[in-house]
Amino acid sequence: MADEYNIGLGNDDLETRKKAEFDFTSFWNDQAKQLSWFRPWTSTLDWKQPFAQWFVGGLINASYNALDIHQQTKATKPAILWEGENGESKVLTYKDLWIQVQKFANALKSLGVQKGDRITIYLPMVPELPISMLACSRIGATHTVVFSGFSSSSLKDRIDDSKSKIVITADGGYRRGSVVKLKEVVDDAIKDLDFVQNVIVLERTKNKIQLNSRDKLWNDLISESSEECEPEKLDSNHPLYILYTSGTTGKPKGVLHGTGGYLTHLHSTYKWAFDIKDSDIFFCTADIGWVTGHSYVVYGPLLHGATEVMYEGAPDFPDVSRMWDIIQKYKVTIFYTTPTALRMFMKYGDDLPNSFDLSTLRLLGTVGEPINPEVWKWYFKIIGKEKCPIIDTWWQTETGGMMISPLPGLETIPLKPGSATRPIPGVSISVVDEKGNDVAANTKGYLVIRKPWPGMLLTLWNDDEKYKNVYWSKYPNCYYSGDYAIKDEDGYLWLLGRADDVLKVAGHRIGTAELESSIVSHEDIAESAVCGVPDEIKGEKIIAFAVRKESSTKDIPTLRDEIIQKVRSGIGPIATPEQIYFVSKLPKTRSGKIMRRLLKAIASNEKIGDISTLEDGAAVSEVQSAFEELKKSIKKKQF
Ligand code: WTA
Repeated sequence: MADEYNIGLGNDDLETRKKAEFDFTSFWNDQAKQLSWFRPWTSTLDWKQPFAQWFVGGLINASYNALDIHQQTKATKPAILWEGENGESKVLTYKDLWIQVQKFANALKSLGVQKGDRITIYLPMVPELPISMLACSRIGATHTVVFSGFSSSSLKDRIDDSKSKIVITADGGYRRGSVVKLKEVVDDAIKDLDFVQNVIVLERTKNKIQLNSRDKLWNDLISESSEECEPEKLDSNHPLYILYTSGTTGKPKGVLHGTGGYLTHLHSTYKWAFDIKDSDIFFCTADIGWVTGHSYVVYGPLLHGATEVMYEGAPDFPDVSRMWDIIQKYKVTIFYTTPTALRMFMKYGDDLPNSFDLSTLRLLGTVGEPINPEVWKWYFKIIGKEKCPIIDTWWQTETGGMMISPLPGLETIPLKPGSATRPIPGVSISVVDEKGNDVAANTKGYLVIRKPWPGMLLTLWNDDEKYKNVYWSKYPNCYYSGDYAIKDEDGYLWLLGRADDVLKVAGHRIGTAELESSIVSHEDIAESAVCGVPDEIKGEKIIAFAVRKESSTKDIPTLRDEIIQKVRSGIGPIATPEQIYFVSKLPKTRSGKIMRRLLKAIASNEKIGDISTLEDGAAVSEVQSAFEELKKSIKKKQF
């Protein structure tokens, strides 16, 4: 254990872990008491595996806990320091946010929104995004935020699946200096969805848009609405939000989170992990369209009355020093970002960060993918100047909040570059083999969660069966995370990436099945398989293999462009394959399953390994020769 990474912040609460180990239910019971409830619960946990109900009988409201409780003491404290991509800025105090949320909640009510209705939010990173979410939670509507980089067909699937009666969007959003026409995407997505009653349009970029009969302008709506809106007293397990995420099947899954349990998990992890103090300036770079933004841009910081920076644009716009510039400008003390962003910053050398004043930083975090020890060390040395602990936080959309992480707000633990260290108190995690038995130290296995935890998903929206199958069928008594991990001799966990057919590209979850079905939607393509291969910056990049139909006569470059277009309009630009290899057969097992591992080995130029179960040995050499050929042609810059 290296002493050089033994950075503590002076917190050494030994009791918390002990209590959690003694009785995890009564431990979480105590944690939940730190929130404001309208009525206490009668039972801490009702566990009918695999369905958990936390704090049963309790009544609570998320927006009340994020805003109302701070009005006596922190009304004038900045909640959000917003930085636009073009350099403009806005400060919203806790009072400003409270009023705007109530106004917008009343606007939603005036459109007939009721408790339990679903609302899709398709907005860029502007303050109106958290305002919309908090307004929904205030009146008991379930929000479903869709990342504004998703295409109209992805958006349509999500609106349709959740049967949202309102969609909230903007005329446009800024991305790398240009305007993304979000309203047009929404119009296309809902053209056949008659159940969408209204589209609320925020004028962000003032680009020309067409207003249709169901459209309402944000400003018109709030100008008529009152500043007071009583928060609904909601059942602890009332659905707070649905967030769609990729899985191993073609259709994205609607992860459904409740209220009381989820907020308890966030309240606890936010203070333990970030050691949050009233004077801190917190900056999480995640887009709110992903779970990290829901939990640690919106709910976590606001529950604690923290001040945070929210940035609208791309991290490398207008250049790769933008994050350092923001840290210097706002005197950021806690910075939470992704390994992909760090790898990109590191590539540009030390001079850029060294030319900014980063001395206010006191704690650094990462999330979303494994962090390589070299990058961890660079982050520690160059950004943290060897004085900031680094918290590598492992969790998932489904877990709601952090599950494995160092917790400098609670205790000092010697850090090891690349390890997320230990599970948080009150959470029980193991690394197991195929049969579900714990593996020996330093042996690779599957990461499972043995007991329910408060932030866990309630179920998958409208699909309890799928929820059981995806997470609770591989092992009879525990939650299957889909990740590989190792526990070392000191009990430290090392996360090794996905064990299933899910890719992690620049930290974004992309399902292989979703991608393949988008590729085969091209009329010339009979079959397709995709895999992820290591990428220096993005962690993984997408490589696609496609089999053309006999009838296809198009030339390869045209076909490649058209397929890329299909993927971009079917899912979104984040799912664009880096390369597409055209082959006449895909390597499959005798039972017909595509051998993705083999494709991955071929595409990353590794040894192929055991091919004895392949359906047709010829296919391997064929793919191999196609690959060799392609490599040659790449050199000739044909692709
Ligand atoms: C991966 C993001 C290694 C993991 C919060 C998980 C990580 C998936 C880490 C969930 C980490 C997340 N180290 N891998 N610290 N954090 N992952 O749902 O594969 O977008 O299963 O949630 O990200 O991705 P999701």
